Amino acid sequence: MTDDLRKNAIQVWANAYAPYSNFKVGAAFRGVSGRIYVGCNVENVAYPEGTCAEAGAIAAMVATCETEFVEAYVISGNPLPVTPCGGCRQKMAEFGKADAMVTMGTMAGVEETMTLSELLPGAFGRAHMEH
Ligand code: THU
Repeated sequence: MTDDLRKNAIQVWANAYAPYSNFKVGAAFRGVSGRIYVGCNVENVAYPEGTCAEAGAIAAMVATCETEFVEAYVISGNPLPVTPCGGCRQKMAEFGKADAMVTMGTMAGVEETMTLSELLPGAFGRAHMEH
């Protein structure tokens, strides 16, 4: 069930700091332990220094020594379900298996769910680093 993830993502969405894009994003990740980690986007006047909601949630997860999530929920105020940016897909691939579920939601309740491997086919991974 993604209900609790959705609730957590909406709660943290409200705290997003997005004065430049006015595009708030909230993310909630469920670790293997069952614990939920949240993150929101945090923009900066030096635009490239801004961070995405997913990055914040991943950092919160790793800060508690948990390094794998099984499910994630991402939400914005846009009527179109928000899809994680390319960089976040790569960050997520570091900490989730190919079948980890990522749900993209809207405030109206529209939801789209994809696995990590669907979001990032042909991901650059550890195997590419082996020689
Ligand atoms: N953003 C996220 O936080 N996550 C996404 O999945 C897509 C984009 C943020 C980055 C920036 O602060 C704002 O949304 C507009 O791109």
